[in-house]
Amino acid sequence: MSFIPVNEPDLSGNEQKYVLDAVASGWVSTGSYVTRFEKEFAEFAGTRFAISTTSGTAALQLAFAALGLGPQDEVIIPALTIVATAFGVCYGGSKPVLVDSEPDTGNLDPALIERKINRRTRAIVPVHLYGHPCDMDPIREIAARYRLAVVEDAAEAHGARYRGRPAGSLGDLNCFSFYANKIVTTGEGGMITTNDEVLAERIRRMKDLCHSPQKRFIHTDVGFTLRMTNMQAALGVAQLERVDQFILHKRRMAAIYAELLSDVEGLTLPVERPEVESVYWMYAVRIGPEFGCSRDEVMRRLREKGVDTRSYFYPMHVQPVFLQMGLFGGESYPVAERLSAEGMYLPSGLTLKRCQQERVAEALRDVQREVRA
Ligand SMILES: Cc1ncc(COP(=O)(O)O)c(C=O)c1O
Repeated sequence: MSFIPVNEPDLSGNEQKYVLDAVASGWVSTGSYVTRFEKEFAEFAGTRFAISTTSGTAALQLAFAALGLGPQDEVIIPALTIVATAFGVCYGGSKPVLVDSEPDTGNLDPALIERKINRRTRAIVPVHLYGHPCDMDPIREIAARYRLAVVEDAAEAHGARYRGRPAGSLGDLNCFSFYANKIVTTGEGGMITTNDEVLAERIRRMKDLCHSPQKRFIHTDVGFTLRMTNMQAALGVAQLERVDQFILHKRRMAAIYAELLSDVEGLTLPVERPEVESVYWMYAVRIGPEFGCSRDEVMRRLREKGVDTRSYFYPMHVQPVFLQMGLFGGESYPVAERLSAEGMYLPSGLTLKRCQQERVAEALRDVQREVRA
C-alpha cells in the first residue's frame, strides 16, 4: 500500500511553462514575473502593496526591521508557533514576549495580551495557526489603544478570512511563506503585504542592500539581500492562477475528515469559528486521554500503516535556544503545552484524494482498536 505523505504541492498547472519561460528570458534574478507576482498577490490579499522576499522568516525579519525595532523593544508573540516567528523578532535584537493560546483554536489568546504590555512593547504578532485566523478585532483594538504595530504572521493562512476580510490584510505589515508545504508555493519564498506606502518603500530598499533612492551604490543604512528570484516568482504566478481551487480543496478535505472522524472517541477535530473562513492549511487534530494512548504512539503506529503525520509545534518557552539566551526560564503556558503534547496533523496535501482520506480514517480507527485491545 502506498505511503500517504503529510503534504504534497500541486504543480500541475502552468508552473513548468512559466519557470522555463523565466529561464529562457535570461532574467533569472529580477524580472517581470517578480513584478507580476507582487501585483497579483497584493490583489489576492486585498492590500495596496506586496513585496516578495526569500522566505517567510525573511519577511518577518524585514517587517520588524522596517518598523525600526531594536534591542530596547519587545514584541508579543504566541507561545505556540513555529520558531521562525520568534527568530524574526530576535534578528534585530528585540525580545519576544509570549502569550498563551486559546484552547479551541490554539491561536494567541487576546484576553491574555494586555498583561504582557509594558513601555517597551512595540508590536503584536498574531499567527493564524494551521490556517485558522486569529480573533483580530480585539487584537487590533488593544494595539490601537497602546499604539502598537500589528504584524500578521499569515504564513499558513493564504486566502483565509476574518469577518469577510483576507488574512494578510488586517495588520500594519503581514507576512506570508511560500515554502513547498504552503497553500501557494514558490519552493522557497515569502511576501509582505501592507497598505502603508512608506513601510512598503522601506522594505523594498531594505531587502535590496538599502541603495540610496538618490544614487545607486550609495548606502546610508545597513540592508539585506532577501530578494525572490524570477524563477520562484514564475512558480508563484502559476500557483496564484489556481489558488481559489486550492482553497476549495483544503476546505473540502476538512469537511471529508470531519465526516469520517467525528465519532472517534478522544479525538478533537479542528474548530472553525463562525466569523472566520479557515483554509485548513493542515488538518490539525488532538489526541486526548480518552483515545487510549499518547499522541506520539498514534503517530508511530500510523506511520507503520503508511500514514504520515506531524506533531504540533513545541512552544517557544521550552526551546533550548531561548533558554540559553536567558529567555522564558520558569515561564509556563499551560494551554500551549497541552495542545503541543496532544496535537498532530493528518495528511492534508493539495493532491490528497477522498480514498486516501478514507484510508487515513480507517488507520486511525485501527490504531484505537489495537491500543484498546
Ligand atoms: C507560522 C509560520 N511562520 C513563519 C514561517 C516561516 O516561513 P519560511 O519557512 O518560508 O521561512 C512558517 C513556515 O515554515 C510558519 O508556519
